[in-house]
Amino acid sequence: MNAADLPVHEIPALSGNNAPIHQEDAFDDLPVVGTVPADFSGLYVRNGPNAYYPPEWRYHAYDGDGMLHAVRFDQGRVSYRNRWIQTEALQEEMAAGRTLWKGLKEPPRADRPDQPLKNNSNTDVKYHAGRLLTMWYRSGVPYAVDPYTLETLGPVDIDGPGTRISAHSRPDEHTGELMWFDYDTKPPYMRYGVVGPDRQLRHAIEVDLPAPGLPHDMAVTENYTILHDFPLRPDPDALAAGRYKVRFYADQPSRFGVIPRYGKADEIRWFEAKPAYMLHVVNAWEEGDEIVMVGTPYRLHKTADGQTDSRRLENTINQRQRDFLLYEWRFDLKTGLTKERVIDDVLNSEFPVINGAYQGRKNRWSYNIVFPPGGREEPRFPGLVKYDLETGGYIAYSAGPNFFYNEPGFAPRDNPRSEDDGYLVTLAWNPREQRSEIQLFDCYGAALAQGPVASLPLPRRVPNGFHATFVSQATLNRWK
Ligand SMILES: [Fe+2]
Repeated sequence: MNAADLPVHEIPALSGNNAPIHQEDAFDDLPVVGTVPADFSGLYVRNGPNAYYPPEWRYHAYDGDGMLHAVRFDQGRVSYRNRWIQTEALQEEMAAGRTLWKGLKEPPRADRPDQPLKNNSNTDVKYHAGRLLTMWYRSGVPYAVDPYTLETLGPVDIDGPGTRISAHSRPDEHTGELMWFDYDTKPPYMRYGVVGPDRQLRHAIEVDLPAPGLPHDMAVTENYTILHDFPLRPDPDALAAGRYKVRFYADQPSRFGVIPRYGKADEIRWFEAKPAYMLHVVNAWEEGDEIVMVGTPYRLHKTADGQTDSRRLENTINQRQRDFLLYEWRFDLKTGLTKERVIDDVLNSEFPVINGAYQGRKNRWSYNIVFPPGGREEPRFPGLVKYDLETGGYIAYSAGPNFFYNEPGFAPRDNPRSEDDGYLVTLAWNPREQRSEIQLFDCYGAALAQGPVASLPLPRRVPNGFHATFVSQATLNRWK
């Protein structure tokens, strides 16, 4: 029996806390266990898949329509609301009263060659120039959302109607610019650009790559952008047949394109490094003649004869298993050479989050979700780790078996004393009691290990999701 024959409640990507919810709610003045400190205010918002119509095909966990869940903190008072992102694709289906797209595991939609896959905008959410921007990991038109009401304001025409950008395009909260990238299986394989704080396009270039890739993230420093070209690529035979499969070329280097923020295509300097694949960047910064980038690449294993086990990496990625390192690359602008090192290979962690004020600047702390070793079993995201990027040391908290955390946001305390003077905000799922709650951790010093300083049980569950962001009240006020 394949998944398409299973009742919906038995498909893992649609059961338990992966099942969609059908309500759009607003809950004010949530009850608190513990104390919500009054020394910070702002908005935590998380994106994730939440199918509007029950799927009638082989469902993939990435197929659901994007839904935002927002938690507002106002000097100790906490409220929650959620809404679907009203994408063009969802609105077309709602008008038809049924699904028109199928998912990643099915053939693309034949009557829409311009958009064969459903841009559900369900992957990432960032704040730019007064609005939330929702983005899709396969690169699609982004959507603007009101940060107060979660009303979808509409598609954003970055460089004219239909311009696609990838999830993990990055706003700079200091300048108000948005650095974006787009990738495709057809030439040009990558584009890069900058949108100003006035929401106007200021820069766009085509980036020449040797073959289509699967870049998932980018990095920015104060003056540079770092574009990713890892030797993990769509399998050419599968691609020609219209199927999606990844292939890792262990005999090819990783390539990182370092370019001034407003650099032209011929100003990109490509740095080569050991073959790898990485989803998420922790941070990047400038240090003397070097550009430093830290991230969480997949751990590579060796075969019995000492070769890189490409199949194992491909399987890990295809089966969405968790097997990660904390890693640093240093690109020397004088010599053109790369130095790289493992920061930590003991813990298995991903979904890195930092204090947003330090994006592009040298920082010390990364807050990641930590996973149990292995990863073939039912996913568990049981804890949080605060990493010291200099030493690889860490302070960690685990809620034990089965607990499921979502990507947190870092909420700086008002008038912070240091980079780590703030809180982690996250949504957590308690499968034993079958309920969701908002949790708040103090990050200062070693406080994270003490567990949450406040828990706020929600009246109904919040499905597991993907990426999140925290927008401080000061940033929100700048755009009022
Ligand atoms: Fe991501």
